[in-house]
Amino acid sequence: MKKLQSLRGMEDLYEELQVRLWQEVESKAAVIFEKAGFTEIRTPILELKELFARGVGETSDIVSKEMYELEDRKGQKLALRPEGTASVVRAFIQHYTSHQIQEGRFYYKGPMFRYERPQAGRLRQFHQIGAELFGSNHPMADVEMISLLEKLLRSLHLKEISLQINSLGLPEERQAYREALQGFLKKIEDLFSEDFKERVQKNPLRVLDSKDPKVQEALKEAPKLEFFLSEESRVHFKQVQEFLDLLKIDYQINPYLVRGLDYYDQTVFEFLSGDLGAQNAVAGGGRYNHLVASFGGPSVPAVGFALGMERLVSLLDTSLLKTQAKRVYFIALDLESTKLLLPKLEELRQDAVIAQIDLSEGSLKAKLKRAHRWEADLVIILGEGERQKQSFLVKDMASGEQFELSWQDFRKKLKLNN
Ligand code: HAM
Repeated sequence: MKKLQSLRGMEDLYEELQVRLWQEVESKAAVIFEKAGFTEIRTPILELKELFARGVGETSDIVSKEMYELEDRKGQKLALRPEGTASVVRAFIQHYTSHQIQEGRFYYKGPMFRYERPQAGRLRQFHQIGAELFGSNHPMADVEMISLLEKLLRSLHLKEISLQINSLGLPEERQAYREALQGFLKKIEDLFSEDFKERVQKNPLRVLDSKDPKVQEALKEAPKLEFFLSEESRVHFKQVQEFLDLLKIDYQINPYLVRGLDYYDQTVFEFLSGDLGAQNAVAGGGRYNHLVASFGGPSVPAVGFALGMERLVSLLDTSLLKTQAKRVYFIALDLESTKLLLPKLEELRQDAVIAQIDLSEGSLKAKLKRAHRWEADLVIILGEGERQKQSFLVKDMASGEQFELSWQDFRKKLKLNN
C-alpha cells in the first residue's frame, strides 16, 4: 500500500517550539495591527477562479501557471486562493461598499496555495499574515502600512532586513513604459532563452526583476520607468520617501522592483532578508487603486502587504519566546492516588502551570521516560506509601534529585503562593 504522506511542498507544523514561534508572531501582529485600527477578516480559502484571474492578473505566473484549480459538482470553476488581497477586496465590496462604506482596515492570516517548484523558502502551501487599508490615496497611508510591517519585524528582533521601494506609476504611464521596454527587449531577445521571449511578449516588466546577471547587464541600457512617471506619480513617490524619513525608516529605491502581481500602481515595496538565500522576500506589498473598481465596486484607493510566515519564522530564534511556565508531570501509582491528584492538577493549571497526568499503562520507568520526553521540569509521584505520610515524591528532572514534600512545600518549590 502506498505510504500516506503530506503532499510535496505542504508541511505539517508540529514541533512545539516552532508552533510557539508561529503563535508569537501571530499574536504580536494582532496587537500591533489592532492598535492601528485594523480588525481581523477571515475569508474562504476556496473562491471563484475568476476572482484571482481578474484580480492578480491572467498574465502573472501565479494565475497562469501556479493556481490550484478545481471544478465543483455544478461545473463552477474554483481555485484555492494563491494570495489574500483579491478575497479581501471581494469581501469589502460585498459587505461594505454595498452599504456605502468606502473605507476600512483589515488584517488576515492563513494558508495560501501556489503550485511552484518547492525549494527552501518556497512551498506550495504557505502562510501569510497580511493587511489591507481601503479609502485613502494619501502617501502617508502607504507609509503607515510599511511602518506597521517594520514595527512587527522589529518587535521580533529581526536583523539584516532591508526595505526596498519603487513606484510603478499609474496604469497609463506603465502602459507607455511597457511598450518602450518591450521594444527594447525585442531587439535583444534572441540572445536569451525561450522563457525570456515569452516574458517579453506577455509581461515585459517582469524581466526587470530577473536574477540572471546577463539579463541585469543588458538592462543597463533599457529605458527607465521613472522617466515615464507623471508629475502626480512623482510627487506621490517623493512624499512616501519624506514620510519614511520622518519615521526614520531606512529604505533603498530599487527601480527594478516590479512585484509578481498585476494589480499594483504607484508605490510597491518589499522587505528582504540577507539570511534567506534565493527566496529572500519576507514580505511585500503596495498600492492598488484600481482593483476595487475593477471588481465592480466604487473607485476606492487601497494599499496593503503580506508577509510569508515560513520565511519569517525561519529567521527567528526560540530565545524570543518568554520563559515558559513550569511543566509538571503527575504519576499516580494506583486509583486512589489518581483521585487525589486530579484536583491538584486543576489547581496547578489555574496557577498557569502546565500540568499533565500520566494515564498510560506500564511501569514507573516507562512513565518517567514519557515525562522526560514531554520535557517535564518536575514529576510528582504518588502511591500508597506517600499517601499514608500525606506527602508527594517530587523528582526534579534537571538535577535528578528526589524529595518528599508536603503539597504546601511543593507549591513553594514552584514559587506559587501558599
Ligand atoms: P507576494 O509577494 O506574492 O504578495 O507574497 C507575500 C509574501 O508571501 C512573500 O514576500 C513571501 O514571503 C511569501 N510567499 C509568497 N510565495 C511563497 C511561497 N511559494 N512559499 C513561501 N512563501 C511565499 C502577495 O501575496 C500580495 N497579496 C501582498 C499584498 C497585499 N499586496 C497588497 N496587499
